[in-house]
Amino acid sequence: MIETIPSFGLGTFRVDAAKTTEAVRSALQIGFRHIDTAQFYNNEAAVGAGVRESGIPREDVWVTTKVWWDRLQQDKLIASLKDSHEKLDIGTIDLALVHWPSPEGAVPIAETLGAFQEAQKLGLIRHYGVSNFTAPLLEQALEAPGGKEIVTNQIEVSPFLANRALVEATQRLGVKVTAYMPLGEGRAHNDMTIKAIAKKHGATPAQVTFAWLLAHDIVVLSASTNPEHQQINWDAQKLQLDADDIAKIDKLDEGKRNANPSFAPKW
Ligand SMILES: NC(=O)c1ccc[n+]([C@@H]2O[C@H](COP(=O)([O-])OP(=O)(O)OC[C@H]3O[C@@H](n4cnc5c(N)ncnc54)[C@H](OP(=O)(O)O)[C@@H]3O)[C@@H](O)[C@H]2O)c1
Repeated sequence: MIETIPSFGLGTFRVDAAKTTEAVRSALQIGFRHIDTAQFYNNEAAVGAGVRESGIPREDVWVTTKVWWDRLQQDKLIASLKDSHEKLDIGTIDLALVHWPSPEGAVPIAETLGAFQEAQKLGLIRHYGVSNFTAPLLEQALEAPGGKEIVTNQIEVSPFLANRALVEATQRLGVKVTAYMPLGEGRAHNDMTIKAIAKKHGATPAQVTFAWLLAHDIVVLSASTNPEHQQINWDAQKLQLDADDIAKIDKLDEGKRNANPSFAPKW
């Protein structure tokens, strides 16, 4: 059983269910052991099939799913996780996250955390955590009963949205940061600074971006259905950037947020 969140995962947002099983299977063959899905992505069944068909022992794979923000009440959250558990069909889910905080705090976080603990007792999930939580919301969650068990805050981090204050606050609170949309919606591939660093190391801009996140002790989620891209992304873990490279990428921050729906918290 994997006990801590693996530092490099395959994302599946916007991956068509028809392509998901093959993408998960090939990623697991390459070496990925962490797959990220969500009820909202409508591909949990395909993710589960990929895990089952990969030939990798179930206990060697970490699967994360997420519960949408309109299902954070005790009964709705349990029902939602039962549904995810059935669709994934891989036994106990390794990690379940609150996908977005309850708008205006309509559902108290203590109720949601209590429901996660109940889901653990029912054998639906092993761990729980949050996503898109601001620092004050995370602090509030950590103070609620069961809050100390929160394993990650999954947030948008890219060279163009370093999200430094939230990353540092999350890490200071002892919670692992997981980065989504790490390539800044594709922008990293063409950024001059990242390209120059990539050239210096004989690497690709995507690899440099992922290595920069790993250097900041941030778990990386990269999504790809292309096995060649998956292999390139996986190999980023071997790339060691120097302090100068990291400082240059740190300076690219523009606070440019891509994921900011109407129900997002006030960042
Ligand atoms: N918690 C949340 O609210 C939230 C929000 C957004 C995302 N997420 C999670 O985070 C994951 C990652 O975010 P994301 O999917 O937006 O972003 P991403 O991994 O930055 O971008 C995925 C896109 O990049 C392309 N790509 C990946 N590797 C590449 C490479 N080496 N060379 C060229 N193109 C490459 C993929 O195309 P190909 O398939 O052609 O390679 C795909 O179109 C998601 O899949 C999801 O699991 C969570």
